[in-house]
Amino acid sequence: MNITAKKGDILTQDVDIRIVGIYEGENWENDFILRLGEETGGKLKVNAKKKEFEGKAGQMLNFSDLLIVGLGKQTNLSASLREVSGSIYGFLQGLPVTSVAIELFGEDDVKFDAKITGQKIAEALLLASYQFDTYKKPKQKNILEEIYLIAEDGRDANKAQKGIEKAEMLIDGVTVARDLVNTPAQDMKPTRLAQTAEKIAKMSPNIKVRVYNREQIEKKKMNAYLAVAQGADSEPRLIHLTYKPEKAKKIVAVVGKGVTFDSGGLSIKPAQYMETMKCDMAGSAAVLGLFAALARTNPNIEVHGIIAATENMPSGKAIRPGDIVRAANDKTIEILNTDAEGRLTLADALVYAQKQKPDYVVDLATLTGACVVALGEEISAVMGNDSDLSKSLMAAAEKSDEQMWEMPLYGKYAKLIESDIADLRNISSSRYGGTLTAGLFLKEFINEDQKWAHIDIAGPAFAEKPMASYLGKGGTGFGVRTLLGWIETL
Ligand code: BES
Ligand code: MN
Ligand code: ZN
Repeated sequence: MNITAKKGDILTQDVDIRIVGIYEGENWENDFILRLGEETGGKLKVNAKKKEFEGKAGQMLNFSDLLIVGLGKQTNLSASLREVSGSIYGFLQGLPVTSVAIELFGEDDVKFDAKITGQKIAEALLLASYQFDTYKKPKQKNILEEIYLIAEDGRDANKAQKGIEKAEMLIDGVTVARDLVNTPAQDMKPTRLAQTAEKIAKMSPNIKVRVYNREQIEKKKMNAYLAVAQGADSEPRLIHLTYKPEKAKKIVAVVGKGVTFDSGGLSIKPAQYMETMKCDMAGSAAVLGLFAALARTNPNIEVHGIIAATENMPSGKAIRPGDIVRAANDKTIEILNTDAEGRLTLADALVYAQKQKPDYVVDLATLTGACVVALGEEISAVMGNDSDLSKSLMAAAEKSDEQMWEMPLYGKYAKLIESDIADLRNISSSRYGGTLTAGLFLKEFINEDQKWAHIDIAGPAFAEKPMASYLGKGGTGFGVRTLLGWIETL
């Protein structure tokens, strides 16, 4: 499926179907809508009335070779453009069309930015066209070949084309992440994540990768991470990707939780909660997706991607509730619940990340079920020790239409993770506030002067039902677009 921006008049395009937008509350006597009226042989108003089409976002009115789409309120378009574009893709999917022209919809002309608009429409179309077909032949083949975004008078097709190209680079990265999350855990062992990292490193001379095996991880004294890995038959891999441009303005370390399957370990999960736990490496998938995008976008920021990959399995070798381990920063942890394993892997990964002397450390993790209880399935939680950093991440998330809300690292709750016989316990002594105490646990592994933010993506990483018109079930690639957008603001 190619998407190309083109200068021209949308109504004179020689394609299977032309797609134009009408705003809610737009004046139906304006020149363009009058032309649409002629184009439909005078049926526009009658049909609109019959179908109650008022231009509300996502409404559609179809005249076989002309589709009229509701754009919602004009002032609201920037917030709904991806959603509207996704619905267009959904509509086209059922039709025997191979070529389409879509109006380069815009906000009012003052705010109009052809690059951003082109990028948003293309992102949504590409995300919507995603299919995971490794294990099942797709029901519907994608027969759409050419999509043209038509820039009318006064709108810059070249800029729109730049936006489309940006979207393609980003969505390639998102697709990497979605495929990794969707692949069953039987085929997505830590070694497979490492192989993927090695493949991505080959995409750019600026990317290098180092992979450490169990023995080498032991030498690094990452015993909290190893405590999780000891119960699994599959071998752990510590993965360190480095993207180094010629001149770097800043250094960033991005840490992704990479538990390729979370059974809970000896504190085993009930069957229902285990069903989707192949998604517990979604943080690491976002890191790998980010690097795939970095290979093509080449920003002037040095980026380290760190993944402490392992399975969490019960076995005769598995860590027991009550066991105490010493993490790489010498803090001891009483492991009272082996299902709170993500924070154990991240603890050592964060210590390792800080050795790269980064200006910022950001971790992404499907860390707590409590986060899904608090914020639902679409919203991630951000917690950090530097409010500018958290704010800039949230601003990038908003631009990407990824949801991120701040939760507090409330210091007084630190007593809930104190242990009588070790420096820390890995679960809270309270039933409540589980996302916050997990964040506070991670903070114990962050140096005093290190700017850091933790993003709990347990909700949005994996969609059990479609999350948007352009984001279907399964792995969402959450975080890739936001992280890249954020890196570009540094
Ligand atoms: N991977 C889970 C969290 C999770 C839950 C991710 C739902 C995605 C969807 C994590 O390792 C976990 O099991 N957390 C426990 C922590 C508890 C034992 C303190 C939880 O949330 O129940
Ligand atoms: Mn767990
Ligand atoms: Zn987990």
